[in-house]
Formats: sequence, structure tokens, C-alpha cells
Amino acid sequence: MRIDELSLSSKDRGKAYSSSNVFPYLRLRRLRKNHAIRHITQEVRLDVSSLICPVFVKEDASNAEPIDSLPGYYRLPLHMLVDEVSSLLDMGIKAIMLFGIPRAKDEYATSAYDGNGVVQKAISMIKKEFSDDIVVITDVCTCQYTTHGHCGLVKDGTVDNDSTLHILARIAVSHANAGADVVAPSAMMDGQVRAIREALDDNGFKDTLIMSYSAKYYSSLYSPFRKAADSAPRFGERKGYQLNYANAREAIREIEQDILEGADIVMVKPALAYLDIVRLARDRFDNPLAAYSVSGEYALVKAAGMQGLIDEDSAIIEFLTCIKRAGADMIITYFAKRAAEIINGRGK
Ligand code: PBG
Ligand code: ZN
Repeated sequence: MRIDELSLSSKDRGKAYSSSNVFPYLRLRRLRKNHAIRHITQEVRLDVSSLICPVFVKEDASNAEPIDSLPGYYRLPLHMLVDEVSSLLDMGIKAIMLFGIPRAKDEYATSAYDGNGVVQKAISMIKKEFSDDIVVITDVCTCQYTTHGHCGLVKDGTVDNDSTLHILARIAVSHANAGADVVAPSAMMDGQVRAIREALDDNGFKDTLIMSYSAKYYSSLYSPFRKAADSAPRFGERKGYQLNYANAREAIREIEQDILEGADIVMVKPALAYLDIVRLARDRFDNPLAAYSVSGEYALVKAAGMQGLIDEDSAIIEFLTCIKRAGADMIITYFAKRAAEIINGRGK
């Protein structure tokens, strides 16, 4: 018996095709036959323009400071920002997520809404130089700016929701006033989107967008970021406001609530272990959807890559493509630059 006869569901190929009660023999491998066929039949594509690059700006830095917990990443001084954004734009990256590391912290995060604060200065420098060529998104939270390191104001040992809303609104307005295109509240306080939307509108910033960290899970994958931004809580943890990673339906309720409160863009964070949530969100809601591939995801890939245990570039492209496949429109990733280099290089 010949090998192709063995693989047929009918002994007679001709008979099989002419007979109405037998399926034609599907050969899905035809779709994978060569590079060109694979390319035209590809369902989703990773393009540089859907990548958002996180940028750390440190108020009292004089040089680019390497971040130990994020190998290959830097805390930048204000005077290096224009060059940094310029090189991102050259690569086709058109959006950044700004994180500030202030000189001073206090109990009330006052340096977070200081008109002369580090993020406010960064925004105006970037906007002055690049205007609408770059989308400036700013993280709106208190944890880098408070002595206790929590994402809100602490009252009687716990993070107080409603007094925090006023602070978040002030921070968002100060960012909008400096020229931010998008403010991104990450504190996971109830009502934060509504409070920010109202404050923006009342202060004449009706056109400033809100990207909400809607489904932000409590995760071990944030620790490299916290080291980078000096934002780890000094007591307790964030389980009282960030989502339990065992829950999916609760994430949908968070996203729905944010949309009702006026979020323009919603987010799922982290990304890789949460692609089911990305998919649920994509299927349920029509808002633009962001996925945040967090610092720990970068660290995992980087550590394995540096040890030669995996091929780092392949893993980067695979993971980012899979995040798009799950339904994300845009991805915040520390691999934005490397991915852009790989994608741009491949095109040549
Ligand atoms: C601040 C904030 C955090 C991240 C983004 N914004 C840290 C946290 O919630 O502890 C994490 C980003 C990352 O790990 O890449 N609220
Ligand atoms: Zn925070």
C-alpha cells in the first residue's frame, strides 16, 4: 500500500472526491507551505505603530541611570528626553507612557500634581518639541510620590478610596495642563475615571483622553518596576485594591464600570498570563483595548535570553504577536524598541 493511500479516509482518492458523503481531504499544511503563503494568510500582524514605550524620567538624575531590575532599561534625566523620543519616532513608535521619579515624597503625594513636577516638565518639553507627532500618555497614581508607597492616601492604616479620588483628579488635571494627550489612572480606586473625567471637563480639558488601567491585577510581575520607580509599598500590600488573579468576571465588571464612567481606552494588565481576560474584554466591549506587558514579563524573557536558555528576539515577537491575537489593539511593552528594530529590520 502506498503512503498516500494510507493517509486517505477512502482507499480510492477519485472516489473520495466524487462521492457526496465523504469530505474532501483537507490539507491545512498547504497554508504553511512557504514563507510567502504563510505571510498572506497570517491573521494578525504586529506593527510598530501599536506599541507604546514606557519612559522613566527621574527628577534628580544627571545621566541615564541603568535599571538593575530591568536590564537594558534606563531612568532618564529631563534633558535626555527629547533625544529619546526622537529616536523612538525614527523607529516608528508613536506613543510613550511616562513615569516620574520625583525628588520629594510626602504622605499626600503633593509632588505628583506640582505644576513644576518632573512629569509635568517632561510633558511640556516633549510636546514643545514634537507637538502631535507623539502621543504622550501619563501614569496617574500616587505610589511613586508617597512616603508609604501606596496608590492612594492612607487613613487609619488602609488606603482611603474617596479622598484619593481628589488627588488623582488633581494629578490628571496637572498632566493635561502640561499637554498630556492621554491620562492613565492606575490606582484601582473605585470611581477614579469618573472623578478624573469631571475634573478634566471642569478645567477645560474636554479633549484629553482617559486610558484606564481597568483590569489591573495584583501580580508578582510588578516588582522590577517598583525597584525601577521606587514605588514599592512600605507596609502592607496592594491586594485591597488590585484584582485577585483568580477572577475573570470581576475584571469584566471593572472594565464595564470604567467605560460607563467615561474611559476612552481600557486596559488589561499584566498581559501574558492574562490573555483570557484580553480576549473576554475584546469580545465584550468595543472600546480600544490596551494590554500592558509588565516589567516582570520583560524580566522573565530578558533573564532567559541573557542565559541563552531561549532566543530572546523570537520570544519577543512571539509574545507580542500573541497579545495582539488575544485581541489587544495596542501593547505597552518594555520591548517596544527592540521589537521595532526586529520588525523594521525584517521588512528590509
Ligand atoms: C503604578 C504602576 C505600577 C505599574 C504601572 N503603574 C506598579 C504597581 O501597581 O505596583 C506596573 C508596571 C510594570 O510592572 O511594568 N501604580
Ligand atoms: Zn500606584
